[in-house]
Amino acid sequence: TILEGRDIASVAKYMKSPQCKQVFVILGAGVSTAAGIPDFRSPRTRLYAMLAKLNLPYPRAVFELNYFRFHPTPFYTLARELYPGRYRPTLTHTFVKLLSDRNLLHTCFTQNIDTLERQAGIPAEKLVEANGSFASQRCIDCKKEYDSARMREAIEKGEIVVCDKESCGGLVKPDIVFFGESMPEFLSQSIPKIGSADLLFVIGTSLTVQPFAKLASMAPESCPRVLINLDFAGDIGTRADDVLLLGRCDTIVRDLCRELGWEETLDSEWAK
Ligand code: OAD
Ligand code: ZN
Repeated sequence: TILEGRDIASVAKYMKSPQCKQVFVILGAGVSTAAGIPDFRSPRTRLYAMLAKLNLPYPRAVFELNYFRFHPTPFYTLARELYPGRYRPTLTHTFVKLLSDRNLLHTCFTQNIDTLERQAGIPAEKLVEANGSFASQRCIDCKKEYDSARMREAIEKGEIVVCDKESCGGLVKPDIVFFGESMPEFLSQSIPKIGSADLLFVIGTSLTVQPFAKLASMAPESCPRVLINLDFAGDIGTRADDVLLLGRCDTIVRDLCRELGWEETLDSEWAK
């Protein structure tokens, strides 16, 4: 095995060793719950439960193009809830930024669309927003881009936005990846790189949606995988160098940073 033990101290010791050069991170909704954003599947906060009140036939319809085309209101409601600017990054987002500052971060894959990774200062070239983001939007029919300032205004007011190309009439949708839509191309380009990982953190995700479920298993056998989550996820725990740190991610990240001697920096960066 690579790690001396399956605990925080062993992870920290390995991170400080010269063997640990390329760290990969996979994030999910659980890293943003402390910011006040509900995740999808936790029983108490469930975003999907909140959306159920909007008369969706089934929760994930909110991310389906064929549903959106005829019923855009639920997605627009969700968009208003998650629109950038309402929330601030958590300690866990800041931890990933510290990994980048220390030249340890290779790539951070996120499934989240709240853009808190960008806000935390994780550089764009190390960030893969696999489900897209609210940074841009376009017509679902003719694909014409729509102005961001006008979009923000409409979302705030709860207005549904229609394409401004003459006689198009298509709905405008933020560039969030819906079910059945292809993922951004840079995602498929980045996935194989995980084969060179020296360390993988999987944080705040149930690892139930592809390609993330398989992404974690693509890390080489020699790569310690650290799960920081309230619950078990994916196949993490089945390998000799897997470390399960179950609990609130901000608490665990703080413990890890203390072990690394990064705790003060964590707090000062977060407070910025
Ligand atoms: P889920 O809601 O499926 O999983 C969130 C995970 O985070 C759960 O395992 C929780 O136990 C854990 N969790 C919640 N709060 C936590 C905390 N404070 N500390 C540590 N763990 C915590 O969310 P995702 O895995 O991100 O797709 O869901 C994947 C995709 O499913 C989403 O990207 C979304 C959804 O359909 C799209 O948006 C297209
Ligand atoms: Zn159009």
